[in-house]
Amino acid sequence: MVNAKALWESLKRKYKTEDAGSKKFVVGKFLDFKMVDSKTELDLLSLESVTRFSESWNSRGKPLNVLINNAGIFSIGKPHKFSRDGYERHMQVNHLAPALLSLLLLPSLKRGAPSRIINVNSVMHAIGFVDTSDMNFTSGNRKLTSLKAYSSSKLAQLMFHSVLQKSLPADVGINIMCVEPGSVRTNVARDLSKIVHVAFQFIPFFLFTALEGLRSALFAATDPEILKYSVKLKSEEWPVCAYISYGCRPMNPCKEAHNVNNTSRMVWEMTLDMVGLPSNIVEMSLQ
Ligand SMILES: NC(=O)c1ccc[n+]([C@@H]2O[C@H](COP(=O)([O-])OP(=O)(O)OC[C@H]3O[C@@H](n4cnc5c(N)ncnc54)[C@H](OP(=O)(O)O)[C@@H]3O)[C@@H](O)[C@H]2O)c1
Repeated sequence: MVNAKALWESLKRKYKTEDAGSKKFVVGKFLDFKMVDSKTELDLLSLESVTRFSESWNSRGKPLNVLINNAGIFSIGKPHKFSRDGYERHMQVNHLAPALLSLLLLPSLKRGAPSRIINVNSVMHAIGFVDTSDMNFTSGNRKLTSLKAYSSSKLAQLMFHSVLQKSLPADVGINIMCVEPGSVRTNVARDLSKIVHVAFQFIPFFLFTALEGLRSALFAATDPEILKYSVKLKSEEWPVCAYISYGCRPMNPCKEAHNVNNTSRMVWEMTLDMVGLPSNIVEMSLQ
């Protein structure tokens, strides 16, 4: 197992050295990616907020070396809700908004190449199903549960970013990975009642502390060998982006995610349509 604390410290040192001049730069906040400074807020429940944030970041003209799409929701047992943009909330926070963020930040990621986009995914993607004719769960054909919405959003994220990895020219040097943090005792069950929430923390299923749960994301963000692995997968035209397990080992995502020429491609097109971007967004962003 990789020692997360050591990785975290090395990442802090690296960014302190590279951005020593900036007083605004706070590593912890950067990794959380919620606030970059006191003025720029990122609310994934608002596509407008994502766009504003990205514009603000890109306008600095600085390189971006690592984007970690970590924020996510799993509203266990709650009735399903829609965002102001009109999208089912799990799909918006876990997939649509991070997808928009990844695309809009391509110019900064290109400046920071070799750079990495890391998506904190979940093994639950394997039980997800993306109905590309009803990605927003509005047809009423399937009974929507939080588990279905969560797992489908994670599968959609994996499929979308696999197509993005394929669409990026190799010489641009932007690498995409998904990671699985393991079962982590975090605030993920915040929507349960207080008493259930407290009990939740003691369920042995949640094996890792939040710090331990960071391992795979930090490993994907910093390890040089994983970067080489990602480059190799792309050169061999492997259909899915690199996927790193909670033990920091490459793992194979579910079979459905390999369906890159059919479902994944449709998820890509539907996603662009839902976030309002044109089909040539990658070429446009990299010009
Ligand atoms: N915990 C697990 O066992 C587990 C397993 C597999 C995958 N994951 C994934 O790991 C990631 C982190 O989750 P976690 O377990 O650390 O859960 P968590 O404790 O609930 O943290 C979720 C994070 O997402 C942020 N967030 C939620 N809604 C947001 C929004 N609209 N805009 C911006 N930020 C928002 C939260 O910010 P605030 O606190 O400010 O609301 C918080 O920082 C998620 O993608 C989750 O799916 C977790």
